[in-house]
Amino acid sequence: MTKKLGFIFFAALCVVIGLYPLMYFISDSKLGILNSKSDLLLNNGLWNIGFYAHISLGGLALLIGWTQFNKALRTKNINLHRNLGKVYLISVLFSGFAGLYIAYFATGGIIASLGFSFLAIIWLYTTIRAFLEIKNRSISKHQKYMTYSYAACFAAVTLRIWLPILTAVLQDFITAYRIVAWLCWIPNMLIAYVIVKQQKFNRS
Ligand code: HEM
Repeated sequence: MTKKLGFIFFAALCVVIGLYPLMYFISDSKLGILNSKSDLLLNNGLWNIGFYAHISLGGLALLIGWTQFNKALRTKNINLHRNLGKVYLISVLFSGFAGLYIAYFATGGIIASLGFSFLAIIWLYTTIRAFLEIKNRSISKHQKYMTYSYAACFAAVTLRIWLPILTAVLQDFITAYRIVAWLCWIPNMLIAYVIVKQQKFNRS
């Protein structure tokens, strides 16, 4: 029961934050991070393509990814699992490379840029590796890399939990943002490591 409630809570967070990028498309006024950007950057065509590709496909990856970890959904319809997996892979490829590009212009300078860049590289690497493993029919390695991939993707959720807390504590948005560019993913990867070890232990 606790496990089920935990999964529902996890799924709800993924859906809410997965839908959040829509706000950038429907809002008439300048939203969120756009307020911290210079007019020069906001008028840069390549950055705009990168930004909107990143947020829309990142949102899609987050929105569908959690369903893939539900055993009942997976075993009931393996074709759906495969098709959603392909959509997730393509979304991560576009959103990840776009994320790596826009990381260069991140608010907070080099510290934030490096934090987001490492996250993008880990997200891309673990997702591509998970895909290659399933192509080789290695199910346990596919599961392992997908656990790391989605832990990276889930940084979009943890960032939006940590940021208001740190901003309130430090009373300084830029410092909080620099810390959060790292804090949003490092604990996630440690938790993924524990989950992967547990899965291995349960199998043996
Ligand atoms: C996991 C790898 C990810 C990386 C490396 C990454 C990187 C970035 C970067 C560098 C920015 C711009 C920050 C700035 O200019 O200061 C950004 C903004 C944004 N990202 Fe991601 N991101 C990732 C995942 C996601 C996902 C899965 C979503 C889905 C919701 C997402 C949604 C957004 C949104 C909505 C913004 C605009 C800022 C805001 O409103 O909070 N990102 N991301």
